[in-house]
Amino acid sequence: MTKTFQKTEQVSPLQKARMEYQPKLPASLKQGIKNLKLTEGEATTAAGDAEEIKNMFPNLYGANVVTFEPGESQVEQKTINVGVILSGGQAPGGHNVIAGIFDALKEANPQNKLLGFIGGPSGIIDGEYIEITNEYMDKFRNTGGFDIIGSGRTKLESEEQFEKTIQTCKKYEVSAVVVVGGDDSNTNAAMLAEFFKKKGEDIQVIGVPKTIDGDLKNEQIEASFGFDTATKLYSELVGNILKDANSAKKYWHFIKLMGRSASHIALECALKTQPNITLISEEVAEKNMSLAQIVNQMAEVIAKRAENGKNFGIALIPEGLIEFIPEMKVLISNLNDQLAEAESKNEYKTLAGWDTKIAYIKGLLRNEDSDLFNSLPKSIQIQLLLDRDPHGNVQVSKIETEKLLTEMLEVKLAEMKAKGEYKGKFSTQAHFFGYEGRCAAPSNFDADYCYSLGYNAFALIQFGLSGYISSVRDLTKPAGQWIAGGIPLTSMMNMEKRHGKLKPVIKKALVELNGAPFRKFSENRDQWALEDCYIYPGPIQYFGPSEVADITTETIQLERN
Ligand code: FBP
Repeated sequence: MTKTFQKTEQVSPLQKARMEYQPKLPASLKQGIKNLKLTEGEATTAAGDAEEIKNMFPNLYGANVVTFEPGESQVEQKTINVGVILSGGQAPGGHNVIAGIFDALKEANPQNKLLGFIGGPSGIIDGEYIEITNEYMDKFRNTGGFDIIGSGRTKLESEEQFEKTIQTCKKYEVSAVVVVGGDDSNTNAAMLAEFFKKKGEDIQVIGVPKTIDGDLKNEQIEASFGFDTATKLYSELVGNILKDANSAKKYWHFIKLMGRSASHIALECALKTQPNITLISEEVAEKNMSLAQIVNQMAEVIAKRAENGKNFGIALIPEGLIEFIPEMKVLISNLNDQLAEAESKNEYKTLAGWDTKIAYIKGLLRNEDSDLFNSLPKSIQIQLLLDRDPHGNVQVSKIETEKLLTEMLEVKLAEMKAKGEYKGKFSTQAHFFGYEGRCAAPSNFDADYCYSLGYNAFALIQFGLSGYISSVRDLTKPAGQWIAGGIPLTSMMNMEKRHGKLKPVIKKALVELNGAPFRKFSENRDQWALEDCYIYPGPIQYFGPSEVADITTETIQLERN
C-alpha cells in the first residue's frame, strides 16, 4: 500500500547548505554504476562455529569477498524495483544511504524504482511503502534522522514474516531488499536471504552496517555508520561540561553515554576529551568487579582530587555498565526469568503500583539476588522491572546508572569522611547523552561513508549478489581511496545463546582490552584522573580544512594504524 510520508518541517540555513553538499565516493565507484568491474576475492568461512553456520545457511555459506574496480561493466541493465528498510535505532547518515542507493539505481536505469518500506521491518511485512522520488529525496540529502521513511524494531525472523515479505515483494515487483541495521537486523537479513534462496525466490538481500554503538565491526567492516557523528556530538557536549566544571570548580558531573552493550562510545569520547574517570564495561566484566568495588575505585579518585583542592570532575559511564557487572548480570538474568513467569500469570498483571510489584518479585528471587536487589534505590528497582525490548533485553537507556553511582558514592564518601579519609565536598550533576546524538546532521565522514555504502549496495544488487553486507574499507584514508565491495553476511556469524537457545548471530564487537584504543586510554587514565588534561573538541565542522572537517574517529585511527 502506498502511503504519503510527508515532511513538513522548515529547514534551517545549515540544513539548506548541507543539502547541497556533494558526498565523496571512492574512486572505484566514482566512474559511475555502469563502469564497474567486480573482482572475486577469497572464499569465506564463519567467525566461529563454521560447521553449524554452514548447515544453517547452505545456500549462502562460503561465498567470496568481492571488491569493485572501475572497468567496463558486463551486467545487463534490467529495470528493477528495490526496497529499503531502516531498522532499529536512528544513526546519522541513514538518509545518505538511501540517497546513495537512489542515485545509483536511477543512474543505472531511470525506470528503476526505490520503495521505502515505512516504519522499519514491519513496513515490508505489511506492504506499506512510499516510492522515493527525486523531489522527495532531495529534501533529505545529508540530513540527520530516519524520518524519510521511519524506523522500527520489529524483528524480521519468523517464516510467517518471511512469507509475507515474499508476498509484498511479488506484489510490488521488488527484486532486491536493502536492510539498513545493526548486528541483529543484519543477522535477520542473512536469514531472509537464505530463505529466499531455499524457496527459489529471485529476491536479493543486501545489508548495510548501521548503529551509533559501533559494535558491528570486524576486519572487513571497519565501522558502522553513525558512530562518527554521534561520538563527535557527545564529545562536544562532554567537552563543554569539562569547561564548565573547570570554570565553576564545584560539581562532579556523572555522564551516562549511549551505546547499549559495548563501551565504544564512552571510550571514543574519553580519548577525545580526557575526563577524570571513564568506566569501561568490558573491563568491569573482565576484572569481575562488583558494584561496591566500582564505587570504591571512583571514591578513591574523588578523595585524591579533593586532597589537591579539587572538588570537581567528570565521570563517563557507558550505558550498558549495569549488565556487565557480574553480580548484576546474574540478577538481571534471574529477574528476566521471574518477570516472564510472573507476567504470564494474571496475578502479577493485576497488581497495582510499584511497591506491590517490587514486593512480589522480591519474594521470587534467590537470597543472594534478593540482597543485591534490596540494596538498590527504589528508582533503580523499578527501572529493572520495566518492559524488555522486542529482543528480550533490559532497556538500559531507561536505567539511571549515573544516578545509582552518585547515590552510592554519597554514602561511601560520607563513610570515608567519618573515618577522616575524605575531607572534600561532593556536589553532583547527572546527565545522559543518547538521543541527542542519534539524529544529528551526519559529519562529512558519515555523509560520505553512508552515501558510498548505499551506492555500493546497489552495485552489489546490480551484480546479482545476495546475503552480502555493503562494505567500504580503508576509512582512515581520504574518501577517494576507500575500497568498495561486499562481505558475505555468514562470514561474520557464529553461534550464541539467546534466550537459552543457541542461535546463529553476527558476532557483536565489544571493546577489546588488548586493542589500541583501550591501551591508549589505560596508559593515560591515571594522569587524566588527577591532573586536568581536558580537551574541548568543539562542534562538528561541516565546512573548512579537510584535517578539521573530514577526520574520523580516534577509535578507527588507533585500530587501523
Ligand atoms: P541500534 O542497535 O538499533 O542501532 O540502537 C542503538 C541504540 O541507540 C542504543 O544505543 C540504545 O540503547 C538503544 O538504541 C535505545 O533504543 P530505543 O531507541 O528503542 O530507545
